Amino acid sequence: DAVMYMPHNVTVNVGTYADLGDCDVLVNSLGDITLVATGDRNHEMRYTVAQLKATMPKVMASGFNGVIISITNPCDTVADLVYKLSGLPKGRVFGTGTGLDTSRLVSALAQQTGYDHQAISAYMIGEHGASQMAAWSCVSFGGAPLAALEGKDERFTFDKDELQRIAINAGWVTYHGKQCTEYGICSTLARMVRAVLHDEKRIMPASMLLEGEYGEENVFAGVPCVIGKNGVEEVIELPLTAEEKANLKAGDLMVVGCSSSEVLGEKIGTASSMEAAEAIHEIPEVTGIISFVDLAGAEVPQAYLDEATLSLLESEHYARMVIEAKV
Ligand code: 2OP
Repeated sequence: DAVMYMPHNVTVNVGTYADLGDCDVLVNSLGDITLVATGDRNHEMRYTVAQLKATMPKVMASGFNGVIISITNPCDTVADLVYKLSGLPKGRVFGTGTGLDTSRLVSALAQQTGYDHQAISAYMIGEHGASQMAAWSCVSFGGAPLAALEGKDERFTFDKDELQRIAINAGWVTYHGKQCTEYGICSTLARMVRAVLHDEKRIMPASMLLEGEYGEENVFAGVPCVIGKNGVEEVIELPLTAEEKANLKAGDLMVVGCSSSEVLGEKIGTASSMEAAEAIHEIPEVTGIISFVDLAGAEVPQAYLDEATLSLLESEHYARMVIEAKV
């Protein structure tokens, strides 16, 4: 219906996987939104992991060699999985991540101050989920840092925890109203696609592979990125305070490893390793967990293994599953 009102001539066709071969940008939006009715985006993994494993080989068999932007939840985890399954170079696969949550934070700040969204520079960083955080020390209004305005003008003197809470919960407000969210994520995505197609070198938060930035290794997380024709071309390291750095690290980073050398999926930014263990049990292919190893190579204390996991470990019915956890 919308085609008539588009600014240029558009033809819509039903395509096949083979048609993807010469595409510049591919959007992964596989999902089953009903699974996040629990209020936890990780629960969609039980559908998305299997779908991606079935789909990505067909996508790559088409000769696709462009940029993939993933919106599927859990966003950081799935972006990582798409990156691995595609074999595309670093930067050519990224997720919408906290690009969406940043729009929610900026909206809350616009309401609080009365300023236009475009005048506000602010970022939500970390997981597209409960453990994300606002980088308050880097918030500015037309170049004036929040810290310089705070206390002098009531518009800039507000409860930061409350605004952060509003940004984190905004998705659930929409979800509870209509059992899905669409406009926010699609606007974020469309802006990213435009940045790639026009090689804009625009800076916006996206879920990107961190290799040393923010002190993190081999995890996808939402951070400001330079987006251009090659996808994410650069990660911007915000000058966070020591407290913010500590808070960013406070969310446990989970990486789910291999089953018979086959990647099952990855999980990042969970509140606790116990929660992760529970979520992992819900992935259909996973019937058990063989070991927990933290990223520094040390064994995680047995206390982190729940009873169900331990009994599976003792039984014959486990997948060869390694979980690396940072706790
Ligand atoms: C959102 O935040 C549910 O991840 C989806 O809109």
